[in-house]
Amino acid sequence: METIESSKIMQERCDAFRLSGQTISLVPTMGFFHDGHLELMRAGKRLADQMVVSIFVNPIQFGPSEDFEVYPRDMEGDLSKAQDVGADYIFCPSTEEMYSGGFQTIVSVQEVTKHLCGLSRPSHFEGVTTVVAKLFNTTKPHLAIFGQKDYQQLTVISRMVEDLNMGIKIVGVPTVREPDGLAMSSRNSYLSPEERESALCLKKSLDLAENLFRQEEYNAEKIIAEVEQLILSHASTEIEYVKICHSASLEDVETVEEKSLLALAVKVGQTRLIDNCLIGKTSGNVPDSNS
Ligand code: PAF
Repeated sequence: METIESSKIMQERCDAFRLSGQTISLVPTMGFFHDGHLELMRAGKRLADQMVVSIFVNPIQFGPSEDFEVYPRDMEGDLSKAQDVGADYIFCPSTEEMYSGGFQTIVSVQEVTKHLCGLSRPSHFEGVTTVVAKLFNTTKPHLAIFGQKDYQQLTVISRMVEDLNMGIKIVGVPTVREPDGLAMSSRNSYLSPEERESALCLKKSLDLAENLFRQEEYNAEKIIAEVEQLILSHASTEIEYVKICHSASLEDVETVEEKSLLALAVKVGQTRLIDNCLIGKTSGNVPDSNS
């Protein structure tokens, strides 16, 4: 495994692979690896000849009062885990390397960024699409792997790739959960033991919504009301949103249809957590619709 900090060298390596007919997968990350990241890497390894894993905590996707400064980092641990999973290259540029003097280009996807997390994090997705576009241009992947836990991010990136004819296959990997159901996230490390217990309300909410649907409750407003009640019965929780929306446009729906998305953002103590599932006829986790 080779670790590369320079965009130019990374580009040269990837150009050479393409010229020799080898396929490249990219797993973009912000590091502090858990099993969810490793699952993305396993998919990347399976699907291409060369796998590049990028590690970059991207400042422009964090709002001014968000956790950029304290976002957990563990480069040494990450390198060892990525090597064990079989990463061929780690691309870990510095902030200066990515956003050198005079940087002034933003990639902005319009409609699907307006809902869910876009409501409270207005510039977040522009930060994500801008950095992901740069990573794509640097590593020239044939396919790129993203987690379905960040369903809206997956949707936004798929839209960008389609709209800008990037010719990259976007693969969504199902959410990896702790044995008790909590979706894996680097931000889980912020939770105190009591908050960790309360955080289970997210997965319980998904299960509750699925059960209600199975009992033939199709009214989105009623399902949302029950889910909100469940979340607020847990200590230290604050709801940012509970939405049932169209799985492609992310617009609210009134009636649960085939493949409606239930998406949640909940603050537990100071930690903002998200989770989602599809409810409707194809109830269950979000399918790998892009692969
Ligand atoms: O999901 C993440 O870790 C980040 O948003 C990503 C895609 C690596 C862009 O910084």
